[in-house]
Amino acid sequence: MDFNIISKLQLPKIDLSNIEWPKFDVSMLQWSQMPKLKIGDAVARLPIIQGGMGVGISLSKLSSAVANEGGIGVIAANSIGMLNPEYYAKHKDANSIALRQEIRKARKMTSGLIGVNIMVAVDDFLDLLRVSMEEGADMVFLGAGLPIKNIPVKELREAGVKVVPIVSSGRAAKLIFKSWMKSYNDIPDAVVVEGPMAGGHLGFKADQIDDPDFVLENIVPDVIAEIKVYEEKCSRSIPVIAAGGIFTGADISKFFKLGARGVQMGTRFVATHECDADIRFKQAYVSCKEGDVGIIKSPVGLPGRAIQNQFLKDAAEGKKRKGLRCAWKCLKSCDLKTAKYCISLALDNARKGNLEEGFAFAGSNAYRVENIVAVKELMQELKRDYLVAEKAGAGRLRGEYEKALERLSALKEEYTVALTSLQEEYGKDYAAALSVLQEEYGKSLEASLLAFQDKYPNAMDKISKLKEEYSKAVDRASALKADLVAMFERSSGISCKA
Ligand SMILES: Cc1cc2nc3c(=O)[nH]c(=O)nc-3n(C[C@H](O)[C@H](O)[C@H](O)COP(=O)(O)O)c2cc1C
Repeated sequence: MDFNIISKLQLPKIDLSNIEWPKFDVSMLQWSQMPKLKIGDAVARLPIIQGGMGVGISLSKLSSAVANEGGIGVIAANSIGMLNPEYYAKHKDANSIALRQEIRKARKMTSGLIGVNIMVAVDDFLDLLRVSMEEGADMVFLGAGLPIKNIPVKELREAGVKVVPIVSSGRAAKLIFKSWMKSYNDIPDAVVVEGPMAGGHLGFKADQIDDPDFVLENIVPDVIAEIKVYEEKCSRSIPVIAAGGIFTGADISKFFKLGARGVQMGTRFVATHECDADIRFKQAYVSCKEGDVGIIKSPVGLPGRAIQNQFLKDAAEGKKRKGLRCAWKCLKSCDLKTAKYCISLALDNARKGNLEEGFAFAGSNAYRVENIVAVKELMQELKRDYLVAEKAGAGRLRGEYEKALERLSALKEEYTVALTSLQEEYGKDYAAALSVLQEEYGKSLEASLLAFQDKYPNAMDKISKLKEEYSKAVDRASALKADLVAMFERSSGISCKA
């Protein structure tokens, strides 16, 4: 018998003092004002970029007003020359002239940050980039195509112009950064991620626009993950800016929680007094209903989002605009033979308020616009809203934390009670109780063995005597049997062995 077995029995030993209860100061949960946005060496007081809006929707007036409020104002460069009555005579030169004028005008109205939005696909892309450098734009936003080939990176750096590509996926962001590293040993300074709810041309296929996989909430983290690799490689901070469908300060707060460090907004800035478009363009936003904002097939070769009207219905039905002429084939992808209208002209007409001969690009939330306000008012509303959302978020977190603390202290209580009852059941000192038990068991086992040992020799003696007696009896029986057999054989003459 292995007496040690008993001593090997273990009861779980849990020492309450070994359990670390999380120590956390609830007052650490803070909400804050909107953070600044740093793009290269440019710092915006507010992380809000007014998206470039062509044709002529965001020029010097709107961009400078946004910059004066601490955001980044952006002049849209594509077909900006249409402001000039001599556009059809001067062609693309008109674009460069008008862009130069608008940057200069904006500079006179603000000391804030001014950017220029240029479509990579347009034929005078490099001209517009050069004007932006010459006029000292703070940054350029490059969309509608991937800014990969023939980008004058060295000149842009020398001019101190930051480069911000506009992408619709993590894949596109990766492609741009990878190519830049290879070709220029450099990377862009920030990235705008424009989701499918934006206004204007969209970087998505028609069937992706309403596909939940492509929502901005999914693309932003994808782009952040791709950019992170390059941030680490180049030891540079590259902010990712979310765009498309951002309408309130609460939306801004939401995308910041997803890792964006800035937002780009278009639709909200159209409905401002300072927006460079005609009042009828802005009114189209105020009066449109949810079902009025839809997707169009633009002659550029991309889908776009706009407020539907008769002009677009005619185009969808295949009616070609009368007197259609092309100024200078600004886009390779646009073919006058198949196009139902000139997109630059249609957008310029809309800018001037002539929505019979054009249409208004608009974000999916345009129907939510209720009135036209000053940029200052809009920025204040966004800041206020953001703070409310952050406070509510912090309040929610605090509530959750406090609930978790309550649960924790209930658990602690439960544990203490369980431990106490365990201790009461087994005696305060378990080890002592165990050794008493062991001793008692040992003793009783020993007593039984001794008793058995006493009885055993007697029993054995008795058994051997019995055995002896038995074998004697067997011998005697065998002898008697032999005598009987012999008697029978003799009297009968019959042999029993047969
Ligand atoms: C009227 C209008 C014109 C636009 N034009 C351009 C443009 O020329 N280039 C560009 O990159 N984005 C353009 N956009 C997209 C905006 O810059 C911005 O990214 C987008 O509107 C953000 O979505 P939101 O309108 O829902 O805020 C345009 C948007 C609107 C509403």
